Amino acid sequence: MSKKVISNEQLSFDDIGGATGLGPVMRPSPIITVKNLNKSYYNSGQELRVLKGLDLEFQPGEFIAIIGPSGAGKSTLLHILGLLDQPSNGELIFAGTNTKLLNDRERAGLRNEKIGFIFQFYHLLPEFTMLENVLMPQFISQNNFRLLATDRDKASAILGQVGLAERMGHFPNQLSGGEQQRVAIARSLFNDPGVILADEPTGNLDYKTSLEIINILHKINKINGKTLVMVTHNEEYSKKADRIIKLKDGRIVQ
Ligand SMILES: Nc1ncnc2c1ncn2[C@@H]1O[C@H](COP(=O)(O)OP(=O)(O)OP(=O)(O)O)[C@@H](O)[C@H]1O
Ligand SMILES: [Mg+2]
Repeated sequence: MSKKVISNEQLSFDDIGGATGLGPVMRPSPIITVKNLNKSYYNSGQELRVLKGLDLEFQPGEFIAIIGPSGAGKSTLLHILGLLDQPSNGELIFAGTNTKLLNDRERAGLRNEKIGFIFQFYHLLPEFTMLENVLMPQFISQNNFRLLATDRDKASAILGQVGLAERMGHFPNQLSGGEQQRVAIARSLFNDPGVILADEPTGNLDYKTSLEIINILHKINKINGKTLVMVTHNEEYSKKADRIIKLKDGRIVQ
């Protein structure tokens, strides 16, 4: 079975033609594979098993919703998928890389280059303008705060995409919750990552604003082709996904 890398993105295709006898049929390799993933926390020597033997595969460009009751392990799973935390056992293969083999610096590099995060409470830095917040992944990857004209143009174009072109010089406390979340979405897109991970991105917003945010995320998935993994408590929004994964007590139940 030959494996051909087709772009600088993490996509690769397995040639399964030989296996089917039908000539070359191309099937995308998963962007994320999780094998027998376990996560435990320890409090005063007591083990709390949070994720219990998960097996998952996400294809490039998929929109996956993760639902389940509070405490089911949804955020824990998202943090592990985003290389913010490590499994206790099992494997996470991200864009063809077995993440177990990475050191901290390589892990941070992969995260900054390939993954965008969106959180319920936006996590914008209050002392920076919207434009600077969007540029934060770039500042981090170049390890300084030098603002190049090309980066500025790129950030303002992305802010335009999320409908905020006019407000670039404003600070987070001068914006509504929905506007702050749109800045966070723009920030998640800056490095053009293949995967966007969103943890209850509408959890802090009213119905109308939530719908606007969901529609922006949906477009980013369908038009920009980003793989989108979204944790939500909202059944209506989860139905927009290609696939729903339900977690309960650290296991996939649906
Ligand atoms: N750092 C930690 N140390 C100890 N226990 C933790 C830690 N982080 C999470 N937990 C526990 O792991 C379990 C799962 O937490 P997690 O945040 O993943 O749930 P969740 O499904 O995202 O819930 P919610 O819908 O309320 O956000 C909970 O019982 C939580 O208390
Ligand atoms: Mg959570």
